[in-house]
Formats: sequence, structure tokens, C-alpha cells
Amino acid sequence: MQEYPSLKQTEFYFFRNLIKDTAGISLDSSKKRLVESRVLGLLKRKKIPNFDAYIEFLKTHPNEIDDFVNAMTTNLTSFFRENSHFDHLTQHLTKNLRGRTINVWSAACSKGHEAYSLMMILEDLFEVHTDLSYRLLATDINTDVLNKASRAVYSEDEIKDIPRDKLKKFFDMNQNKKEFRIKPFYQSKVKFRQFNLLHPQYSIPLEFDIIFLRNVLIYFNEEDRIQVTNSLVDKLKPSGLMYLGHSESVAELRSRCQIVGNSVFQKIK
Ligand SMILES: C[S@@+](CC[C@H](N)C(=O)[O-])C[C@H]1O[C@@H](n2cnc3c(N)ncnc32)[C@H](O)[C@@H]1O
Repeated sequence: MQEYPSLKQTEFYFFRNLIKDTAGISLDSSKKRLVESRVLGLLKRKKIPNFDAYIEFLKTHPNEIDDFVNAMTTNLTSFFRENSHFDHLTQHLTKNLRGRTINVWSAACSKGHEAYSLMMILEDLFEVHTDLSYRLLATDINTDVLNKASRAVYSEDEIKDIPRDKLKKFFDMNQNKKEFRIKPFYQSKVKFRQFNLLHPQYSIPLEFDIIFLRNVLIYFNEEDRIQVTNSLVDKLKPSGLMYLGHSESVAELRSRCQIVGNSVFQKIK
């Protein structure tokens, strides 16, 4: 079995700067081991002998940056994660947004759990309030998670937090493989695409009633947190709602938004 040298400090700085410049992800020195193990996985997959050779490879193959970013992001997620947000959203839509098409964005969607949770909530509402319809966009920087999200196939463990009635309505079960697949009709309700939140131009030609931006700001430094949340508030309609992760907050948002729930911000008209 091939032996790999350990990650030198200068190599760590290279990878740390690259992921900061590309995705805005800030890693302090305590994350050296994490970086080492994630890049090591790439070396093995690409049959590259050491970190230095991989750095040269990245410099000469700019298309390889996606694989690097894919390896460096943390994609932990689950269906109906931080469930009080889905209850809040249901109440808000029922009270306020009748009789029109609403635009919803899951802005760091990872493997699709958040976007499909939103789809299930919206479909159930739509059935009762037939005057309501929606468009649902889901984006992430990581192309591997977007591929998984588009496949819409989940394990028994992943679907454990989905209520039985929703599971029956929205999923097909493959008994042999113990896999659950979102029914194609419902899968097609979510549009997935790659999008970098740090991108200076927000080339998305829509304004949104609802944005979920949950559990991604924790990876950014304060300056990027402010820049990203401001850009997203720009993309909200007046009175639109932005949901951050339960442990996330950005003080600067208070000049443009009022707090209307646990980490829920409403754009001031
Ligand atoms: C921990 S997951 C959160 C998923 C979901 N929002 C949730 O709360 O369960 C964070 C996601 O943010 C994505 N991400 C990190 N940096 C990003 C960037 N600059 N632009 C877009 N997505 C990014 C990662 O790829 C990852 O899938």
C-alpha cells in the first residue's frame, strides 16, 4: 500500500487560501487534519503521489477546482431539519400569500433534503389552497451533492424523519435495495443548479418570497457573512422571509429586516 507524506504547513496554507478564495470557506489552523484527510482522499482517487504534485496539478488544470471544492465542503443535512422553520413557513404562507405564485430558494441545498422538505410542505398547502402555486430553486456550490439531489434517491436512514403520510405520498420504495426515491412528478418540481453564494453577481433572474440560507454562514468569516446575506436580502421581495440556521445570526441584517421567528428575518418594505 502506498505511503503518503503528511501535509506540510505551506501546503495547508495553499489549500486553505484556495477554498477561502473559491467558496468563502474560512478554516483556521485547527482544521489542518481535516484538510489533510479530505485532500488525501482526492490524491488516492486521482492516483497523485503527494500534496505538492496535487498543487501543481490544480494549477495546471483549472477544471479540477470543482472536485477540490466538492471534497472540502461539509454537507451534513437531513429532511425537515430544524423543523420549527417548516411550521413557521406553513403558517406564514397560509396567512399571507394566498392567491399567487410564490418563489422559494434553498440557497445551500446540499443533497436536496431541504429543498424536497420545502416541496412537500408546498405541495400539501397547494392541494388545500388551489389559488397558490410555487417555483422552487435549489442551489449549492458542490456538484457532487447536486447530482445526488437530482437523483432523489435516499436511504432508509435518511428518510427516518419524514412523517409516514408524506413518505407514502411523495416517495416510491425499492423493497430490494431499501431505497426511497422521490416520485418523478414531485422531483421535477425542484430546479437544481450550481451557484456560488460568494459570486459577486447574482445572475438569478427572480425575486423571492422565501429564501432558506441555513447552516452555511457558519463556514464564512464575518465580512463574507454580511456580503452574502445582503446580496440575498436584495433578492427578496418586500416582506419576503429569509431563514438562517438556528445557530446563525447576522447583526447587520437588523437594519434591513425584522426578526419574526427563531432565525427568521423579514425584509422591511
Ligand atoms: C451543512 S450544509 C447545509 C445544508 C442545508 N441548508 C441544511 O441546513 O441542512 C452546507 C452547504 O453549503 C454549501 N456551500 C458552502 N459554501 C458555499 C458557497 N460559497 N456557495 C454555495 N454553497 C456553499 C456546501 O456545499 C454544503 O452543501
